[in-house]
Amino acid sequence: QDDLFKKVVSHAKEYGYVFQSSEIYDGLSAVYDYAQNGAELKKNIREYWWKAMVQLNDNIVGIDAAIFMHPTTWKASGHVDAFSDPLIDNKDSKKRYRADVLVEDYTAKIEAKIEKEVKKAAKRFGDAFDKKEFLATNQRVKDYQEKVDTTLQRLGRSLGKEDLADVKKLIEELEIACPMSGSRNWTDVKQFNLMFGTKLGASAESAMDLYLRPETAQGIFVNFLNVQKTGRMKIPFGIAQTGKAFRNEIVARQFIFRMREFEQMEMQFFIKPGTQQEWYEKWKESRLRWHLSLGLGEDNYRFHDHEKLAHYADAAADIEFRFPFGFKELEGIHSRTDFDLGAHEKFSGKKLQYYDHEDKESYVPYVIETSIGLDRMFLAIFSNALQEEELENGSTRTVLKLPAVLAPTKAAVFPLVKKDGLPDLAKEIIDDLKWDFNVLYDEKDAVGRRYRRQDANGTPFCITVDHQSLEDKTVTIRHRDSMEQQRVAISEVKAIIHKEVDM
Ligand code: GAP
Repeated sequence: QDDLFKKVVSHAKEYGYVFQSSEIYDGLSAVYDYAQNGAELKKNIREYWWKAMVQLNDNIVGIDAAIFMHPTTWKASGHVDAFSDPLIDNKDSKKRYRADVLVEDYTAKIEAKIEKEVKKAAKRFGDAFDKKEFLATNQRVKDYQEKVDTTLQRLGRSLGKEDLADVKKLIEELEIACPMSGSRNWTDVKQFNLMFGTKLGASAESAMDLYLRPETAQGIFVNFLNVQKTGRMKIPFGIAQTGKAFRNEIVARQFIFRMREFEQMEMQFFIKPGTQQEWYEKWKESRLRWHLSLGLGEDNYRFHDHEKLAHYADAAADIEFRFPFGFKELEGIHSRTDFDLGAHEKFSGKKLQYYDHEDKESYVPYVIETSIGLDRMFLAIFSNALQEEELENGSTRTVLKLPAVLAPTKAAVFPLVKKDGLPDLAKEIIDDLKWDFNVLYDEKDAVGRRYRRQDANGTPFCITVDHQSLEDKTVTIRHRDSMEQQRVAISEVKAIIHKEVDM
């Protein structure tokens, strides 16, 4: 698993998908740049989402709100008071940890220990080995596991004071049972706010303290009435947007899974109070269907219904994806009640109500939110696509089986040889295709190597121009996944590609 993940990271770099930000200065932790192919893939994912949410739903419209917002926004939304992670420092090593992640790491370590014991015992007892019975007798480990599970359930973004003391106690106990940091000298657990602060204004006295938005959602809430009125929207309706969000994440690891600067694709669906259960279920289903439409495999998704809820929600679930490092949150669906609009009414003193012409009443709408990280979706698609295949002749090929609709380059065109007018015909084909798709030209190396290069690049089609092409105006078109080749008329090529890559 670790190996697969390392391959994902190095392939992303080698093929121009993702680079470490400011690499020449040794990079910036948890900040990444999208390279020439990555930017295209990311744009295609964004468009695939936008089409499904905005274009195909006549009651959802899209906006593009600013990253900077009036600072009171974050007071009202609860982020100033409650958007924090529990941190703990080790006094000896001077290392800082996120308490919940540390507990998770200990759990993983304990689980690995159990697994090792199980394997050892299985070897010793052979056929007579009963795993269940063995685990039931390993009481000490079982006790720890139980304690960790209950604490993890309580850990989240707004713990009470005594919860924090509990967490510290648990970490100390775990350290004794399963030494990891080699030291037992911990500080108290403290809450650390994740928002980045900045200043707006020219002089020190007049400057206003601002935050970089930690979620795009608030840009939608504060615009709710403007959009409803100008778009003459009737409830139920939705507002969608994509854009950057910023969080000062303490645990920065797992590549683009958890970043300090990332992009969200969010949709707020405004509904009549009392109908939230129905719409919550509908959106859970609808979002899962969207994921499955990409064909990454049904088994790679699962729902995780939250027991502990964020400060704004009355129900919440994650769509989890099987990343190379296990099942992890990819998208959240939250029933946010009237928490946000209600709070903005209170803090701004402006009415944010909807007048229902049928029921002849005004109310603050309830909201169901769907929120997905674009970078995380990128990682899900990219890591799922990267495969090593054994071929019949015994060799292996590295192939990036990106869904064709999302692939950065749709087709590569090759002249079989660099002479006899084949390059000219290949370029003619490119000149025709490039109005519809991203295509590229390659004449270097033997055709087999050029195929491999495009396999690793994720290009779904390779088109080869040979001597026969000059005579009968046909080419071969090779399909990335099946490696099958067809002889087709040049005039048909465009339609064949369209059929596979159109959203
Ligand atoms: N408006 C609700 C909201 O922001 P969230 O669960 O905090 O909810 C939604 O974030 C999604 O944004 C997550 O499911 C994840 O895909 C993505 N996300 C959150 N933090 C991230 C980070 N540090 N790096 C990359 N993606 C992140």
